[in-house]
Amino acid sequence: MTEEIKYKNIFLVGFMGAGKTTVGRVLADKIGYSFVDPDQVLEENAGSTISVIFSEFGEDYFRDLESKTLKTISTGERQVIATGGGVVIRDRNWDIMEQAGLTVYLKAPIEVLFERIKDSTHRPLLQVENPLKRARELLDSREHLYQKAVLIIDTENLSVTGVAEEIVKVLNY
Ligand code: S3P
Repeated sequence: MTEEIKYKNIFLVGFMGAGKTTVGRVLADKIGYSFVDPDQVLEENAGSTISVIFSEFGEDYFRDLESKTLKTISTGERQVIATGGGVVIRDRNWDIMEQAGLTVYLKAPIEVLFERIKDSTHRPLLQVENPLKRARELLDSREHLYQKAVLIIDTENLSVTGVAEEIVKVLNY
């Protein structure tokens, strides 16, 4: 008898600093799925870092690679996929994710998110004079897109394990 798969893949979406990677690893472990970080796969395939890709070829080029990487990864199954924060801006990425699994938005207020990302040097969108202002604007412009996810988890008062446990509970794994 073949074992039933509840969801072919679980796509974690959310802003930079939402905990997609940390929660994703714990969640994958809990439900026996593999964990995939598309940005890491993209960097390995490109032989370059996201920062360098942004500065040498621009954001559109990065977004093309991001969509291609997402598409390839989505052919697999039993994966928890920690998408990059900007994956939600392209409609075709939603088509890919909705076809290949379930989307989960890890939601947190900008103050919490910014506290986690303020010192990072590998996020090119925040390498500006006023990163908090930029982060606020970006989140404001994306919030309605993140809200398209099937499941929305308010992570503000939860630990990493707490978020993973909440997802397991709600999805009834
Ligand atoms: C981006 C988020 C990053 C990375 C790139 C662009 C964004 O991923 O894909 O720097 O547009 O929000 P994380 O959300 O994992 O930081």
